[in-house]
Amino acid sequence: MKIKSAEFIISNSDVGKCPTQSLPEYAFIGRSNVGKSSLINMLTSRKSLAKTSGRPGKTQLINHFLINKNWFLVDLPGYGYARVSKSSKKKFQKFITNYFEQRKQLVSAFVLIDIRHKPQPVDLEFMQYLGEKEIPFSIIFTKADKLKPKAIEKHVEDYCNNLLQYWEELPLHFITSSSKTIGKDEVLEFISDTNDE
Ligand code: GTP
Ligand code: MG
Repeated sequence: MKIKSAEFIISNSDVGKCPTQSLPEYAFIGRSNVGKSSLINMLTSRKSLAKTSGRPGKTQLINHFLINKNWFLVDLPGYGYARVSKSSKKKFQKFITNYFEQRKQLVSAFVLIDIRHKPQPVDLEFMQYLGEKEIPFSIIFTKADKLKPKAIEKHVEDYCNNLLQYWEELPLHFITSSSKTIGKDEVLEFISDTNDE
């Protein structure tokens, strides 16, 4: 799929104020600093459509980007930010769960995982939550440029084997690097295949 246009539409913390059109949308979620905003820039070939930072906690709101005038990419704040207190971590920004539970237009979520990391409770819990709510999701491994090809294979295999303890069936997964533009076509093809517009 070719991305001809990508425009920022609105940021907010209230799912009720998200765009009202019933266009299909895809949302990026994962730990702070995993590379959600960078991935949106990679997919759209725009350097700074979504704001990125080396410091975790950059994205604070629900951000809608209109693509080719007929579907949305949605950038979300990260979870599992170490400096957030345990109680607020538990509550996990209510507006994000509201987003996932109320946004009918959501076709699929992407759960981003740093390819160097072993399965972390916070990610497993979030995938569990999506499963319970019957929200379709795939996994996107990020920062593949940080590992050699053999290590990528091993890390992904280990991660998937670990998930099989919790899931009978594995979600689809993608291997990406925003800094080296890896995995762009695969993710866009998935979006194009699942997008009826
Ligand atoms: P929050 O908005 O804070 O939740 O973070 P985020 O998940 O949106 O991460 P962001 O895209 O802002 O990237 C965080 C840091 O990781 C930045 O310093 C990026 O340059 C870096 N980064 C993102 N993707 C990649 C990648 O594919 N490879 C490498 N090496 N660095 C990356
Ligand atoms: Mg961000």
